[in-house]
Amino acid sequence: MTDLIRMERISKFYGKVQALDDVSFSVREKEIVGLLGDNGAGKSTLIKILSGAVPYTTGEIHIRGKKVDIRSTTDAIANGIETIYQDSALVTQLSIARNLFLGREPLTGPRFLNRMDTVTMNRVAGELLRRVGITKNIPTTTPISALSGGERQAVAIARAMYFDSDLIILDEPTNNLGVAETRGVLNFVRSARDRGHSCIFIAHNIHHVFQVVDRIVVLRRGTVVADDIDPKKTSIEDVELIITGMTDEELAGSPVH
Ligand SMILES: Nc1ncnc2c1ncn2[C@@H]1O[C@H](COP(=O)(O)OP(=O)(O)O)[C@@H](O)[C@H]1O
Ligand SMILES: [Mg+2]
Repeated sequence: MTDLIRMERISKFYGKVQALDDVSFSVREKEIVGLLGDNGAGKSTLIKILSGAVPYTTGEIHIRGKKVDIRSTTDAIANGIETIYQDSALVTQLSIARNLFLGREPLTGPRFLNRMDTVTMNRVAGELLRRVGITKNIPTTTPISALSGGERQAVAIARAMYFDSDLIILDEPTNNLGVAETRGVLNFVRSARDRGHSCIFIAHNIHHVFQVVDRIVVLRRGTVVADDIDPKKTSIEDVELIITGMTDEELAGSPVH
């Protein structure tokens, strides 16, 4: 089966700091991949490259076997990649409805007037919020600044759902969320496969990752140290050892020079 996304031999330098060193990483169709690694391992850099937020130094990105150039978030979105950050890229002073359609607003009337179809935007926004589980009747004209963290994540998730992204990337989406809100995000990730999406899920809480993903990839100091961990057949403790690098082989091998 062709991979949906294949990143090949990606390296990234921020000035002299090498954040990624020859990383190859892929995601299959309808696969939920957990990306784990200590702080600074390169997780956010990898997914920012895929979402067009950060340029890569060397390497290639393929989507469905075709080489693509992702140099901006617009490129990524055009390629079906939607990213939900911890501090999701919502414009806090704009309404829920406006944020859902940001940059892709439906128009009404003669095209040259460029008038937004706010009726459609509000109607669709209302339906989407119900679908992602915001059942409280929040008017879709409410500015993002008035929402809780979980409600903001729900808006970002609704956007990814509506535009039918092939790949939805969530980078620590549950930070600062309450218990019920966290459950909502985890349910979304778990159900993404049934909706036909692939997902990359990054979370601090390794238990959350174990609950929802099909496969785990571990980054350590900018390199992939494991890329085929089955959470159903591996213990959390073993994965923690891989993340920190304290595996038996390495402990045995380290003093030899
Ligand atoms: N904008 C930046 N400028 C310089 N160095 C950065 C920048 N962003 C990340 N880094 C460095 O790149 C490495 C990987 O960071 P990051 O991708 O954020 O890791 P993670 O998400 O796994 O915590 C770290 O050493 C970090 O300090
Ligand atoms: Mg990060």
